[in-house]
Amino acid sequence: MSSHDSHDYVVRAIRADDWPRVKQLRLEALRDPVAHLAFMETYEEGEAKADAFWQDRAVGSGEGSTAARQFIAETPGGEWVGTVTVIIEEAGTKDWAGHAVERRQGHVVGVYVRPEHRGNGLIKALFDAGVEWAWERGAERMRLHVHEENARAQGAYRKAGFVPSGVEMAFFKDETQNELEFVLGRP
Ligand SMILES: CC(C)(COP(=O)(O)OP(=O)(O)OC[C@H]1O[C@@H](n2cnc3c(N)ncnc32)[C@H](O)[C@@H]1OP(=O)(O)O)[C@@H](O)C(=O)NCCC(=O)NCCS
Repeated sequence: MSSHDSHDYVVRAIRADDWPRVKQLRLEALRDPVAHLAFMETYEEGEAKADAFWQDRAVGSGEGSTAARQFIAETPGGEWVGTVTVIIEEAGTKDWAGHAVERRQGHVVGVYVRPEHRGNGLIKALFDAGVEWAWERGAERMRLHVHEENARAQGAYRKAGFVPSGVEMAFFKDETQNELEFVLGRP
């Protein structure tokens, strides 16, 4: 059992000057044993990115952005231990896979919690922050994609209220495997 509970953390949006920690947490996530199922890039690809990439990301997904927002959880000692990013997808656009977006929606990506902080409700607190922001931005629903074999992530998403929509997409690294779309309707 973890010795932390979700009340120990501060969940907040990232700021421009946070970029070195954004990079550090992402590289740690890319070393997770399920990173090959969970994330679109490899550790080597992430590590090779220039500082300018992380600086742009910290602004583009930072507290001043209306297009995307990255939330992180910080311990009282200032350690970053989890993150969720929400990207606003606008009706009438195409998503990254070329599919039409039919409604304004929040797309959850980059979900990661440090192993010693799992199973204590922190992921739900991060989701709550991301979902609340998307509703404020006028999203009509939330969605995300999860690999069919990433059972733990699926469990966490169900606990946050998400359900499978029935839409499946071939996994971009292996077309014999699927990613499942999970959705959450606006209350
Ligand atoms: C995904 C992640 C953020 C979830 O956070 P978490 O704190 O581990 O989630 P929780 O423990 O609250 O919830 C997971 C649920 O799935 C259950 N679960 C765990 N392993 C499981 C398995 N193999 N099969 C089925 N259910 C499983 C857990 O028991 C738990 O449900 P419960 O609380 O009812 O017991 C975290 O595990 C993580 O960072 N994983 C690595 C990166 C990743 O996979 N990201 C998601 C990319 S889509």
